[in-house]
Amino acid sequence: MGDGTDNGQESEEDAARRRASGYHTGDVDTVISVEEVDRQARAMGEVIDAARVAELAHGAPYVQIENLRAGYGKMEILHDFNLQVGKGQSLCLIGPNGAGKSTILHSIFGFTNIFSGRILVGDGEAKKDVTTLTSSQKLKQAGIAYILQDKSVFPGMTVEENLWMGGYLMETPAQAREAAEKIFAKYDRLAARRSHAAGVLSGGERRLLEISRALVMGPEVLLVDEPSIGLEPRFIDMVFEILDDLQKTEGKTIIMVEQNAKKGLEFADIGYVLVSGELAMAGTGDELLADPRVGRLFLGG
Ligand SMILES: Nc1ncnc2c1ncn2[C@@H]1O[C@H](COP(=O)(O)OP(=O)(O)OP(=O)(O)O)[C@@H](O)[C@H]1O
Ligand SMILES: [Mg+2]
Repeated sequence: MGDGTDNGQESEEDAARRRASGYHTGDVDTVISVEEVDRQARAMGEVIDAARVAELAHGAPYVQIENLRAGYGKMEILHDFNLQVGKGQSLCLIGPNGAGKSTILHSIFGFTNIFSGRILVGDGEAKKDVTTLTSSQKLKQAGIAYILQDKSVFPGMTVEENLWMGGYLMETPAQAREAAEKIFAKYDRLAARRSHAAGVLSGGERRLLEISRALVMGPEVLLVDEPSIGLEPRFIDMVFEILDDLQKTEGKTIIMVEQNAKKGLEFADIGYVLVSGELAMAGTGDELLADPRVGRLFLGG
């Protein structure tokens, strides 16, 4: 959201430069425009077998989206979309701007209009249909947390107060404080800055605070939209290490959108390419990384 929007004052030259910087890790010569990525990605036209989606989650989905049609107002953005990710697995969504990646996370968290389809969370007997829950219910009852990107911390509040805010749905403030202490015990970096105003944190520290705030409610599922956006390389690595630890050590299930397709696919167990609101490719992260089409369209090579 907010990225790539026109302010009406941009020169044609700036606009061209901006479009040309859509997807790349290599130099400018290897870059193709967003429009071209979109065209070529559509041309993949692969039909994703439902069995493949299930197989990638080892036949035991913890989060499952079935035949979802969803969007904003009356506009349908996602068309018959399916997703499966197992408990403790990670899934990364990549695809052109406007493909509907963020809309998938929004749908899981209750920010879209759902026209048809279902969203299920949990395993075995405990599987629950969460399609129509409100965002607060998703967080409190279904253990789903959405990590907001950038500028979502309250800059005038201390780090500690920001964490307490993450527990606003708890029964008592004491519970939120207790949960915050557990987080401070885990992240020294944050603990050392607990009384500082969040507004003075570095970009990497702020991202750590955003992630931590989502952990206060003890969620099982983390929805993460572009964790690397706007960060210097060393902080990008830090953020992926934190997410890796949450997945591997704490068994969290992670569904991520990442414009930095290389980082995202290296990190994730499962990769999906979304094009125009439809699943265009699905594979393990490594399979997609090795796929020449993904390389050409999203890895700048
Ligand atoms: N709140 C909203 N209200 C109406 N339309 C929206 C809203 N948010 C997104 N859209 C539209 O939905 C479509 C998909 O947007 P979405 O943000 O999901 O794309 P994305 O794949 O995350 O793109 P990006 O890579 O640019 O973040 C776009 O056409 C966008 O304009
Ligand atoms: Mg997005």
